[in-house]
Amino acid sequence: MNILLLGSGGREHALARSIAQSKLCSQLFIAPGNPGTAQHGKNILLSPTDFDAIKKCCLENKIELVVVGPEDPLVKGIYDFFISDIELKKIPVIGPSKDAAQLEGSKAFAKEFMLKHNIPTAAYQSFDVNSLEKGVEFIRALNTPVVLKADGLAAGKGVLICKTLDIAEEEFRNMLHGKFGSASERVVVEEFLHGIEMSVFILSDGLNYLLLPTAKDYKKIGEGDTGLNTGGMGAISPVPFADDLLMKKIVGQMIQPTIDGLQEDKLVYKGFIYFGLMIVNGEPFMIEYNCRMGDPETEAVLPRIESDLVELFLATANEKLSVKKISISSKYCATIVLTSGGYPELYEKGKTISGIESIKNSVVFHAGTTMTNGELQTSGGRVLAITSLGNTLEEALKISKSNAEKIQFEEKYFRHDIGFDVLNLKN
Ligand code: AMP
Ligand code: GLY
Repeated sequence: MNILLLGSGGREHALARSIAQSKLCSQLFIAPGNPGTAQHGKNILLSPTDFDAIKKCCLENKIELVVVGPEDPLVKGIYDFFISDIELKKIPVIGPSKDAAQLEGSKAFAKEFMLKHNIPTAAYQSFDVNSLEKGVEFIRALNTPVVLKADGLAAGKGVLICKTLDIAEEEFRNMLHGKFGSASERVVVEEFLHGIEMSVFILSDGLNYLLLPTAKDYKKIGEGDTGLNTGGMGAISPVPFADDLLMKKIVGQMIQPTIDGLQEDKLVYKGFIYFGLMIVNGEPFMIEYNCRMGDPETEAVLPRIESDLVELFLATANEKLSVKKISISSKYCATIVLTSGGYPELYEKGKTISGIESIKNSVVFHAGTTMTNGELQTSGGRVLAITSLGNTLEEALKISKSNAEKIQFEEKYFRHDIGFDVLNLKN
């Protein structure tokens, strides 16, 4: 079958690679894709949120399955667009409906869902400009640090961890007065949870689900988890401390109640669900839902999945996941992201990339790259993601790190300490 994949980052390169490996995939199209996805299919220059252009592309190329990488088209309702169009309704879209995508699109919606379905999460309240003074009172009664979250999508920048109550109050006022535009018209204020983060992913057909490999990403730019937040500087899979007992709690307290809650609330969901968790003294708490896979977690998770991904997508679309099994490699996977110097603040683009052809034993996923006059150049903050499998986490990390050294571009930066916290936990 012909498949269309939407998106253009490292996540989409990893998805494209796995989809192209499927015996069910005849032709893969990626919109807009990047030079990495072009190794596995045909890139088509259109925006993932231009639904009319996507419709035209689907009809022209006889697309029979659409896989959505990023959150934007999902939150904007691409699932509903297909279902309600007479020519597109037969083409399954892997992703949630617009209503269900609110689990990522609105932090207040997600918190209400968690509360309603008894899913453990940080205590919180949400406020808008009309309840601003109440919000200030609520903040003043919290312990520090205080967590402020813009309700809507803010490109990963909408969460502020405020060290003092004065800073929290000031930022809260700024947010309600447009700091993140319409995304912060509503602000969720919540208590800070002290613990260790991890992510769990499932593929759900709305009734059943398959548990995908666990992962941990590293969001801070600096080693030792310091400095500014980024889209993600690396990831490991599986999470060594996610033992059977913890996974049982996560399934019982988060995953099953989410599946049950989606049905109870009549939220149509046929896609990936990303559970962002904080583990506090061995107890899991939900930090956030994402309605898609993570980036760079996908680059560490998919290489461990041995099952045919397209087969799993079709079972998802046909509500047949209950009869599917997923085969997962017991190897460890480590992904290290190479970024442009200056990221996540100002950085330069257009730097020549060399050395990829010399890489052995790793997969090099493209994120922010472009082919200009036959030359591979940087075109974004996160440029490449180097992924390696190993019999131990240490081994996987060692291979990725040594290959990260071999790729060259001016002002290349990467974190040398990905995995440091879980390696220390084991010692
Ligand atoms: P989010 O966009 O919800 O993933 O938040 C971004 C990051 O902020 C998370 O990955 C956590 O590191 C941190 N964070 C969010 N909420 C909390 C919380 N309640 N307690 C501690 N850290 C948090
Ligand atoms: N790596 C975090 C995310 O994809 O949201």
